[in-house]
Amino acid sequence: MSTEPESHPARMGHVPELSTPPSSPPIFQTTAFDIPDLDVLGQLHSGTTEGHIYTRDSNPNHKALGQSIAALEGADSGAVFASGMGAIAAVAMTLSGAGDRIIIARSMYGITLKLMRRLATQFDVDVAYYDATQPQQLSELLTPETKFCLVETVSNPLLEVIDLRATAEALGSVPLVVDSTFTTPELVRPLDHGAAIVVHSGSKYLNGHGDVMLGLAAGSRIQMKRVRATSSVFGQNANPFESWLTQRGLRTLPLRMRQIATSCTELADFLNAHDGVRAVFHPSLEQHGTHEVAVRDYPHGTGGIVSIELKGGGKEAVSEFMRAMPEIPFSATLADSRTTISHPATTSHGFMSAQERQEIGICDELIRISVGLEPVDRLKGELDRALQTLAR
Ligand SMILES: Cc1ncc(COP(=O)(O)O)c(C=O)c1O
Repeated sequence: MSTEPESHPARMGHVPELSTPPSSPPIFQTTAFDIPDLDVLGQLHSGTTEGHIYTRDSNPNHKALGQSIAALEGADSGAVFASGMGAIAAVAMTLSGAGDRIIIARSMYGITLKLMRRLATQFDVDVAYYDATQPQQLSELLTPETKFCLVETVSNPLLEVIDLRATAEALGSVPLVVDSTFTTPELVRPLDHGAAIVVHSGSKYLNGHGDVMLGLAAGSRIQMKRVRATSSVFGQNANPFESWLTQRGLRTLPLRMRQIATSCTELADFLNAHDGVRAVFHPSLEQHGTHEVAVRDYPHGTGGIVSIELKGGGKEAVSEFMRAMPEIPFSATLADSRTTISHPATTSHGFMSAQERQEIGICDELIRISVGLEPVDRLKGELDRALQTLAR
């Protein structure tokens, strides 16, 4: 039996030396990186040599994706996380601690609201809520302890478009953190409007194929270094494969976002004229409360989400609508390549009481539609048929 190390299975599987690099970036599916000696380890720790030590801290796939989101958002630096919630939690835990105040929009993704409740009850963070369409309310909430304010570019699920510039101005030196999951850098770059940090659920449009769980953040070099350090100790980092998939998805982001935003606006017009719905929420519609901000700040549309209220019948009507439309599935996500629907009252906002949901305008008949890449006429036909079934 050979005594060569390579002959033992435990030591097999070398990184090949290539004279021609791969045309597509490889996945660095490794827990750790081999370090030649303690001098190099010291250089890696001090940052005088670039490299990676352990994938929970950093990995070439994280780095590449972090650089991509930074470039797209016009930021100095980026970071990637195991999910959008990982990104929001890492930013919140970096910027604030016990006794500090966070101001957040009252109408946000339900789990972000849930996270804020946790920070308040378990970590003694003082969370203040406001109507993000009214930035003048901020002056009454700002205290010396306020560490940041968190809003979404376009709120979920009622599609309120936030005036980011007015919000950043009202906050003064307090950093504005913006969740741009619904819009992506293809439709808006929050840092250009005065935000300090932008966060994303990469599980949505940035990847765009419904097969990834990932989060991203972009901001200044110093902020992102601190956020990455938080993410390392709390274990919030992304894995290499999902970073790689998201990097691949990003390549088609401009085409996908333009197409989806155009289809969504057309579908909103169609639904607005349909007898089978009580209300349509989309910023392109004149009756929408934030139509003017959308027209001014989002020349290419506000993304692929439109929400509708059925005419009545509560959750039973919603179930009937779902059964009548098998082509457009109910799925607890958004931003897949295919069109899906969701029911905020029982999914993202299901943890709230009926009274709390009512206060933020989420009724049992509200359905959120995430428009995908199918031809829009086909979607109109499928929605029309389901709405007609309900009317019978
Ligand atoms: C606006 C928004 N932010 C954050 C998240 C959380 O992202 P993830 O599911 O990747 O944790 C979501 C998820 O739907 C979302 O819609």
